[in-house]
Amino acid sequence: MKKFLSLLMAMAMVACLFAACGETEVTPETTVDEATETVTFTMGTNAEFAPFEYVENNEIVGYDIDMAQEIAKDMGAELVIENMDFDGLVTAVSTGKIDAAIAGMSVTEERKESVDFSKPYYTAAQVIIVNADSETVATAADLEGKVVAVQEGTTGDIYVTENCNAAEVSRYKKAVNALMDLESGKVDAVVLDEEPAKNYSAQFAGLVILDEALTAEEYAIAVAKGNADLLDAINATIDRMTEEGKFDELKEKYGLNAPAEEAEEVVAEEVVEEAAETEAE
Ligand code: ARG
Repeated sequence: MKKFLSLLMAMAMVACLFAACGETEVTPETTVDEATETVTFTMGTNAEFAPFEYVENNEIVGYDIDMAQEIAKDMGAELVIENMDFDGLVTAVSTGKIDAAIAGMSVTEERKESVDFSKPYYTAAQVIIVNADSETVATAADLEGKVVAVQEGTTGDIYVTENCNAAEVSRYKKAVNALMDLESGKVDAVVLDEEPAKNYSAQFAGLVILDEALTAEEYAIAVAKGNADLLDAINATIDRMTEEGKFDELKEKYGLNAPAEEAEEVVAEEVVEEAAETEAE
């Protein structure tokens, strides 16, 4: 009889366990579509930032998108991409319009007041782009009193606004438009993240990137403040990708850290010309 009772109790406990398992727990990071039952992971980005995010054949692609696919895969979710202005991303994250901002976004103290950041996944810098024949801007100090173009709301914008004493900071939604205005002489310089600077300036024959880096920054993924479950999931994928060498693969795929050969060539020519000129004097 005693045996039978304990067996009954054991059975009841197992039944309880099953009941607990049956309750589907929906974590705050993901949204379940009632109709299709698919779990989605919605990232916001600004696809004006090759090679991290850009449009190719009507599709948003790039280093950040490949990384986001890995995160979604690990979460068993489907990746949804929302393309928007860069300066709207922090608000979109903190209001829950998107689950995460994945946009080559640099960690800053100010942004940390509104969002939480994942582990960093890329080290970057702001650089100055000028016309190869520019006689006015050769160093960061030369930005003083000049018209300097930036992408609105970026760390380039913040740096120039706070440090350069520029005559005017021209703010653009798209980096490529800033470069067009640089080429046509409407602005004196553009300040942009190094890799996108190499990518976009390569489309303009006469533009060069100055050697001097203005900042050292780290890209990370932003989530809503306190969304620890999502942050943990994202960090786990970042760790896995680091261990598996996936970031090195992505760097290779997107030509990151490759020397800006074209730009360097033009600079070299400049130096030669200058040297010739000083000799002639
Ligand atoms: N790293 C810079 C920042 O955090 C620029 C990022 C711009 N990203 C983009 N997808 N347009 O402000």
